[in-house]
Amino acid sequence: MFQRFRRTRLNKHLRALVRETQVSVDDFIYPLFVRSGEGIKTEVASMPGVYQMSIDVAVKECAELKELGIYSIILFGIPDTKDSVGSDALCEHGIIASAVKEIKKVHPDMFVVTDLCFCEYTDHGHCGIIDEERETVVNDATLELSGKQAVVHAKAGVDMIAPSGMMDGIIETLRDALDEAGYEDLPIMSYSTKFASGYYGPFRDVAESTPSFGDRSSYQMDPANRREAIAESIEDEAQGADILMVKPVLAYLDIVREIKDNTTKPLAVYNVSGEYAMLKHAGAAGLIDYDRVMMETMVAFKRAGADIIISYHAKEVAKLLKK
Ligand code: PBG
Ligand code: ZN
Repeated sequence: MFQRFRRTRLNKHLRALVRETQVSVDDFIYPLFVRSGEGIKTEVASMPGVYQMSIDVAVKECAELKELGIYSIILFGIPDTKDSVGSDALCEHGIIASAVKEIKKVHPDMFVVTDLCFCEYTDHGHCGIIDEERETVVNDATLELSGKQAVVHAKAGVDMIAPSGMMDGIIETLRDALDEAGYEDLPIMSYSTKFASGYYGPFRDVAESTPSFGDRSSYQMDPANRREAIAESIEDEAQGADILMVKPVLAYLDIVREIKDNTTKPLAVYNVSGEYAMLKHAGAAGLIDYDRVMMETMVAFKRAGADIIISYHAKEVAKLLKK
């Protein structure tokens, strides 16, 4: 006697009935890159379909996103000037604060998340204050400035803050800073398990945030470490993170599943720039059926345990889901 698994595969409606994993447009957060100026929409060569936008263009983009059913965005800023401490990120008139204000003014129904870090704002391109001698980011000095950055974002009207710098104690620090400023209801989505990855390459082109020396291995995680990856997310949950994250995701689906099974907070995955670029360029070269591989990839994220998907594919996925 053997089992006839194929019985439930023969009819497409039955296949839909027994499908274990669903992808919905509600799952997505779409990344936007904003810079100063007007009418600017510059495509990034390594990421076809991804643009640096001035704020007015980003506001128009939000209307298009809502049309597709996408109501959540995560903002990255490209400042006019960079310095050693990332002053633009701490300024009420800086690029991110201005973008949040403008977008929320026109689209109060949009859910706006900000990436909280310093690498796009510092002249050295690292994610915090630098100790030149040790060639690394100083943890606690960076925490102090991060608290300030969080309050700047909060005052601008952001809906959720997402710290991505991999500083120890960041969640506790931001929670305290936000609570003290009266923002106890503002959620924090932590980039809780973030690896030092080659898959961020194209992002650093679009965000103009490549480090001027060294790499991020002294603060982001070693891709080889599984137990540490779980501990990082458990720690951020304990410090008060409302949503956890694994980043990148394609090469880390085992980590996604294990964090999902060992924490109770919702779990996001960041489908990063290099992952997007690989599918895009393979599709353009006619090597894969792009739409099909993209959807298969999204299903894999959900099946591994993701509740939320941050992805440059979000608009294309939304269009396919509408069909
Ligand atoms: C900033 C940040 C990075 C990404 C998101 N936030 C870059 C990095 O850590 O170097 C990567 C996103 C992507 O590759 O799509 N800390
Ligand atoms: Zn950073």
